[in-house]
Amino acid sequence: MEKSKYQSYIEENKERFIEELLELLKIPSVSADSKFNSDTRRAAGYLKEKFEEAGVDKAEICETAGHPIVYAEKIIDPALPTVLVYGHYDVQPADPYELWDSPPFDPVIKDGKIFARGACDDKGQLYMHLKAFEAMMQNGGVFCNLKFMIEGEEEVGSDNLGVFVKNNRDKIAADVVLISDTSLISNDVPSITVGLRGLSYLEVEVVGPNRDLHSGRYGGAVANPVNVLCKMIASLHDEKNRITIPGFYDKVQELSKEERKKLNEAPFDLEEFKQDLGIKEVWGEEGYTTDERTGIRPTLDVNGIWGGYTGEGAKTVLPSKAFAKISMRLVPDQDSDEITGLFSTHFKSIAPEGVEVKVRPHHGGEPAVIPIDSVHYKAASAAFEETWGKTPVPTRDGGSIPVVSLFQRELGLDSVMLGFGLDSDNIHSPNEKYGVFNYLKGIETIISFLKHYADKGVE
Ligand code: BES
Ligand code: MN
Ligand code: MN
Repeated sequence: MEKSKYQSYIEENKERFIEELLELLKIPSVSADSKFNSDTRRAAGYLKEKFEEAGVDKAEICETAGHPIVYAEKIIDPALPTVLVYGHYDVQPADPYELWDSPPFDPVIKDGKIFARGACDDKGQLYMHLKAFEAMMQNGGVFCNLKFMIEGEEEVGSDNLGVFVKNNRDKIAADVVLISDTSLISNDVPSITVGLRGLSYLEVEVVGPNRDLHSGRYGGAVANPVNVLCKMIASLHDEKNRITIPGFYDKVQELSKEERKKLNEAPFDLEEFKQDLGIKEVWGEEGYTTDERTGIRPTLDVNGIWGGYTGEGAKTVLPSKAFAKISMRLVPDQDSDEITGLFSTHFKSIAPEGVEVKVRPHHGGEPAVIPIDSVHYKAASAAFEETWGKTPVPTRDGGSIPVVSLFQRELGLDSVMLGFGLDSDNIHSPNEKYGVFNYLKGIETIISFLKHYADKGVE
């Protein structure tokens, strides 16, 4: 097939496209850690500048109660459809630093992969949209109106995004949202994410005696908060690995046999999955496949647990307190506030008399499902056919992007999740990476989507 002008432009400018991304990756915009606040702001400033260079009508830094949002737009004709691009420039903490083969904020390219915190989630993926925009501007212009909203708090629950969306309805009004923040099944099997799970994240504290005690003098006579916490957490799953919180499954949508069959048609290699993770067997709710367990079923996981003595050597102590961070992934039609409430009531009810239990909610997000019979899904599918030569498989991802359901509820807008990451990209882990191939191919696919979408127009 003959090269398109966009393919040629991307090819000719790829070194610079990569260089600019590396500059962004050098900025440690860790939203969770206030020590990085000025860097986080610097990342927003860098993006604003790059949007301006690429030719937007305007680009601005919008203040919020937390990290700022970068907003930019190019309006060519109000009669044409408008696509709102969402991304996030904040990244997860890079800890533990010692497990990285190269420093997380000193990007390197090795074997065609860019290694850095945020390389895939989400700087590499959001930056494709800037370069897709530039490529269109330099080759005859954009096909439809474009708005860009890049936030800095996704990794900490998008707390201030709701207020921004409510206060800026006109500014961000659009026909569809476009997001690259998910992954493909593989580079041989392209896919489009049509479902995301919601999230309910909280911290628990179990308080026992008023001070740490000698575990010999008092052990056996006083409830040990760490023992108690472990027992309480263990009781949250039954023998079928179902969650025991009363009412937890009440609102879970059960899929029809046909829907489940369709979902399980997506290529998945269980042996490869186990081998990749170094596990002998998978685990999960009885009666569901691995793809179903992460895609359409809710879950409960301990993210961290601590208390007592964890330093070198041994110290005989009966700790006064124990803590855990717990997350629950939710599916339609569960509601994160409601689930947090159910957890809290249940967790307190199973505590023995000798301890006090505190539950502190962190953040939440709602699940979302995107219809595949829509104009926007069809345009995304056509884009993959054009640029990858394959029809993409619709998949339900286990992760959460709170803004997707927020846009559905607040603005009645669906999102197209055109993500190009891979499971092997190590997002949230040491040695995060993003393939140069995926970066460049993603730019091409984004342009193709916009072209197809603008052609077909609004439903
Ligand atoms: N990009 C991810 C979400 C994701 C990952 C979707 C993999 C699909 C596949 C996003 O940056 C993320 O990490 N979200 C958080 C949500 C949160 C902190 C509210 C998550 O899923 O833990
Ligand atoms: Mn992300
Ligand atoms: Mn993330």
